[in-house]
Amino acid sequence: MSTPIVIDCDPGHDDAIAILLALASPEVELRGVTTVAGNQTLEKTTVNALKVLELAGRADIPVAAGADAPLTRTLRVAANVHGESGLDGPSLPEPTTQVVDAHAADFLAELIEPGVVLVPTGPLTNVALMLERHPDVRDRLESIVWMGGAIAEGNVTPAAEFNAFVDPEAAAAVFASGIPVTMIGLDITHKALFTRAHADRLRDTGAAGRVVAELSDFFQRFHESRYDFDGSPIHDALAVAHVIDPTLVTTLNCNIEIETASQYCDGRTVVDRWLVLEGAPRNAYAGIDVDAQRFLELLVERIGSLA
Ligand code: RIB
Ligand code: CA
Repeated sequence: MSTPIVIDCDPGHDDAIAILLALASPEVELRGVTTVAGNQTLEKTTVNALKVLELAGRADIPVAAGADAPLTRTLRVAANVHGESGLDGPSLPEPTTQVVDAHAADFLAELIEPGVVLVPTGPLTNVALMLERHPDVRDRLESIVWMGGAIAEGNVTPAAEFNAFVDPEAAAAVFASGIPVTMIGLDITHKALFTRAHADRLRDTGAAGRVVAELSDFFQRFHESRYDFDGSPIHDALAVAHVIDPTLVTTLNCNIEIETASQYCDGRTVVDRWLVLEGAPRNAYAGIDVDAQRFLELLVERIGSLA
């Protein structure tokens, strides 16, 4: 019995790999993709989502475009990480598929029925708008598995991870919604580095494998220069992998709040890692550990199975 999922994303190298992992895994059924401004502008993240689905021969999966800016703040993209296109590295043909004629916030509400897991892998703007426009969705959305946030250090400021930083107000609304949120944050994604050896295992397995290897080659440049890593954290793929196999990530049910009014810490996910806040609502599940090797082997094996 596969779990139906919807991915809300900002492709983005790791978003693209997350989509391909979902398509390659029988444990999940990708019902739809929605796009949001984040790593790049909405126009570019939407084209990139269409490109990836067409690469996998899955143009049948509907795509809806969403917010082109955060709820209140000015969009900040990550061209330094993902390039001007948002998917620099491989050369993918321009898509021929069109998006559906609905805003992502409305399309998400349409797609979400009991049992569907929402997997956002970008800023939470579309999810917050969905909750605002369709409050009834709370009655049928049982789980959100979000790649974002961090217990410890940030990656776009010393305090904040990118997806949370771009739209802290949206993240605050989602974590206050009453819907259980599992936070797949930097603390665990940085423990599972996809290396050149992993990429080389995929390079000749097929079109998808070659593209993932080339995405990784480009993505690696940033992680080598910033962190001196010998690989790249495929952040968003770990959120999808958590739905595929919940034993990969260890989570802690605790209180998580989002900072929205600070000179230095806007976008910080304030995680009560040691449960010091007696009586605080345990509104979320923070990823605190990962079986990195099993995750990476799952990723290589599944992507390698695609044509
Ligand atoms: O901080 C990493 C996250 O921000 C990933 O989802 C990446 O794709 C960017 O959206
Ligand atoms: Ca992303």
